[in-house]
Amino acid sequence: MSDLAERAARLDADDPLADRRDLFDLDDGVIYLDGNSLGALPRHVPARVADVLTRQWGRMRIRSWTEGGWWDAPERIGERIAPLIGAAPGHVVVGDSTSVNVFRAVISALRMTPGRTEILVDATTFPTDGYIAASAARLAGATVRAVHPAEVSGALSGDTAVALLNHVDYRSGRLHDMGTLTDAVHEAGARVVWDLSHSAGALPVDIGSHNVDFAVGCTYKYLNGGPGAPAFFAIRPDLLPRLDQPLGGWCSHRDPFAMDTEYVAADGIAKARAGTPEIVSLLTLDAALDVWDGVDLRQLRAKSLALTEFFVDCVNQLAPAARSVTPAGEDRGSQVSLSCVDAERVMAELVARGVVGDHRPPDLLRFGFTPLYTRFADALRAAEILGEILA
Ligand SMILES: Cc1ncc(COP(=O)(O)O)c(C=O)c1O
Repeated sequence: MSDLAERAARLDADDPLADRRDLFDLDDGVIYLDGNSLGALPRHVPARVADVLTRQWGRMRIRSWTEGGWWDAPERIGERIAPLIGAAPGHVVVGDSTSVNVFRAVISALRMTPGRTEILVDATTFPTDGYIAASAARLAGATVRAVHPAEVSGALSGDTAVALLNHVDYRSGRLHDMGTLTDAVHEAGARVVWDLSHSAGALPVDIGSHNVDFAVGCTYKYLNGGPGAPAFFAIRPDLLPRLDQPLGGWCSHRDPFAMDTEYVAADGIAKARAGTPEIVSLLTLDAALDVWDGVDLRQLRAKSLALTEFFVDCVNQLAPAARSVTPAGEDRGSQVSLSCVDAERVMAELVARGVVGDHRPPDLLRFGFTPLYTRFADALRAAEILGEILA
């Protein structure tokens, strides 16, 4: 057995999260390293969704809104996500997409900072955040400035209303320092919105201890909520009473069934809702979140760091023509991005040979390491196959 194979066997044998893999519907013929785009299906979810469709919708029909717990599913599922992102209970709601929640958070932040007109946007952001910020700016008479996260502190001014930042860079996998950046934004008198799409479920996140104003993020990646699963929106407790969100609809009204012509926002986190919740997707996510029961997030992080480090070691030995662009150690999320020539074709060959990651132009191969179901042996085998292709 090679040194790397021995290391993989030892690490898998010592992995305290190893038994979680069985909760997922994974086939041994495929090494799935794309959970940072679409998390794998937990095995128990289809039966739970079948119940939503056949019994709750099919038999109970409209009674499910009240008797089946449909109406408050956005808040109830938010309550399950809160500990994964360090949010206060009662301050997370689930619904709409991350794009919509970015809009909701940015406009809300602008309304909390009257007289300030600049939105700072992470220059390395996933594009949707930048597009939405630009549209929010046009609507609110504000301007947008793209700034690299490393330069945010120097770019803040008395005119900055809000900084919109990504916790983990979707291309490089770099993890940004939430505490330092949030403090800098607050010192400038501005609000911060963090997009946690690539950190929620990938590592312990603590928006509470960092005093984060707003956080949003996807649930179909490391939270395995399924394709198009609704996003979360979280707010700092002392800001909730002042929240004046731009998409208040009947479901965020204090008394939705009064059908009042005048809008009065609900008191609690329900005021961040808009319209009828996407029940089938919400309850799919609700079921998927069961895989987190009893997971120690420190163990999750330790495994994620060990997995990504091991993968980089394997690539350095077995596929030296590819070079990691992901920072080492604590400065990374749970993905490794490799730069190589002809990356698009290389990824197509990897997928054809059962190693599923993805390609980001121009030259990146992205591999997500979901700690709940990825084995060290998978990391080694992926690097071996990559080495064969590159050779
Ligand atoms: C950081 C980040 N934000 C937002 C999104 C997109 O969110 P949605 O399509 O749910 O609006 C993605 C999708 O990959 C993402 O990586």
